Amino acid sequence: MRKKVSVIGAGNVGASLTQMLVQSGICDVVLFDISEGIAQGKALDLAQACPLWGSSSFICGTSEYAHTAGSDVVVITAGLARKPGMSRDDLLFANAKVVAEVTEKAAQVSPDAVIIVVTNPMDVMAQVSRKVSGFDSKKVVGMGGVLDSARFRTFVAWELGVSPEDVEALVLGGHGDLMVPMPRFTTARGVSIMELTGKERIDALVERTRNGGAEIVAFLKTGSAYYAPAAATFQMVEAIVLDKKRMMPCSAYLDGEYGAKGVYTGVPVIMGGGGVEKIVQLELNEQEKNDFVKSVDAVRSLVEKLKL
Ligand code: LAC
Repeated sequence: MRKKVSVIGAGNVGASLTQMLVQSGICDVVLFDISEGIAQGKALDLAQACPLWGSSSFICGTSEYAHTAGSDVVVITAGLARKPGMSRDDLLFANAKVVAEVTEKAAQVSPDAVIIVVTNPMDVMAQVSRKVSGFDSKKVVGMGGVLDSARFRTFVAWELGVSPEDVEALVLGGHGDLMVPMPRFTTARGVSIMELTGKERIDALVERTRNGGAEIVAFLKTGSAYYAPAAATFQMVEAIVLDKKRMMPCSAYLDGEYGAKGVYTGVPVIMGGGGVEKIVQLELNEQEKNDFVKSVDAVRSLVEKLKL
């Protein structure tokens, strides 16, 4: 039987993710939105594309949580997106309320699901979702590192003039302005970028990656990025529903790993059917450690504002 994935929030990220899932045919999808009609309309439209895509995925649009019952994966995209001049952190209070409510209702009817949190500020929202659901920390994970790494991969590929698929990269820390791109773990077909280009250029690529989301917000003006965020979330859902055991940077609950305790932050994990099956520990150098701590502290200060 195909796995059931519920996507909460039929905005740009939710709808694009749903398209990718349905087009791939790897699962059935329930697209949920509280705003009556939006999810139903988009789902019907996507269903009518299935014959053209050769997909047998079942898709349903709804405003009732009952229809999401028994999901294997619940993806939370609901909430506000930022506007030009806003940081992800400016969305804290409004989105915490949305994520808490959505988690409570969705978790109640899908007690065995893995929850993927996409809503910003994502690391903090993952913490909200875990607290409200009461789920094991392996079963609540945030999407950030896969997207930030994809951005870094893109900029490195352009710099080196190679295909982005040949570039592997790692971005750790919170999905915010202090994220930590890791040039030392970034390669083109296994060759370190530090051998392929100079420090100044790498610093510029790191900076562009940190600013990657805001660069798009500044162009769009009315919202934030969604194709790459949806593609990054797709990769996480796929790893879970196909139990792929993929190694990917995700926001995971740290319980002493990387010297941090009781906080969600981006680290490399093994993602499979059970959710975050393992946190992969890397030896960080002094600079990386300092940057990582600063990024964790920024997440922590937001968590404290919410008094979780
Ligand atoms: C971004 C948003 C999705 O990075 O956080 O574009």
